[in-house]
Amino acid sequence: MNDQNESLPRTPDDRLRPTLALVLGDITAQDVDAIVNAANRSLLGGGGVDGAIHRAAGPALLEYCRALGGCETGQAKITPGFELHAPWIIHTVGPIWRGGTDGEPALLASCYRESLTRADEIGATTVAFPAISTGVYGYPTDAAARTAVTTVGTAPTSVNEVRFVCFDQQTFDAYDSLLRSREH
Ligand code: AR6
Repeated sequence: MNDQNESLPRTPDDRLRPTLALVLGDITAQDVDAIVNAANRSLLGGGGVDGAIHRAAGPALLEYCRALGGCETGQAKITPGFELHAPWIIHTVGPIWRGGTDGEPALLASCYRESLTRADEIGATTVAFPAISTGVYGYPTDAAARTAVTTVGTAPTSVNEVRFVCFDQQTFDAYDSLLRSREH
């Protein structure tokens, strides 16, 4: 292969797989183009990572969100990052876990795919995701991590780096073992 190919700009028809990175920490502190929020259908804030993002972004985020008219489960909408390091926030609504037979895996996969589609629309090349649905919404951590890694790892996107930001060690370990097994 010609070395110069490495530096050719990407086009929608020539997309590469994103690099998958893993960190233990707070998503609001990530220095990336876009952070993903695990929101609810109202998009008007809540607890968990949603609350942390609204606190860090400041009150202008809630004002902006009021005009968006909510968001369906499995879909994603963009806002500015306001006072965050990240210039953009991608708000997605994960499924509530109801035992796994209510379409939860497909809806969770849709959150990751739709978020990457929004990232492509704003030209974001680095994107940080929390472990969507694994807190208040009760999705089992291992199963959610598997869907996250599989979906992001095979998504057609122009994003260069996807960073999974885990807030606790158990979640970090679940992603870590999945990412290590992909290397073989
Ligand atoms: N940075 C990264 N991850 C975090 C942070 C943070 N600052 N804070 C929490 N997490 P959750 P859900 C992790 O409950 O399950 C909200 O009220 C957390 O440990 O935030 O999708 C919304 O408004 C867990 O691993 O989101 C909705 O009503 C993961 O983020 C509802 O909760 C997701 O936990 C959404 O529930």
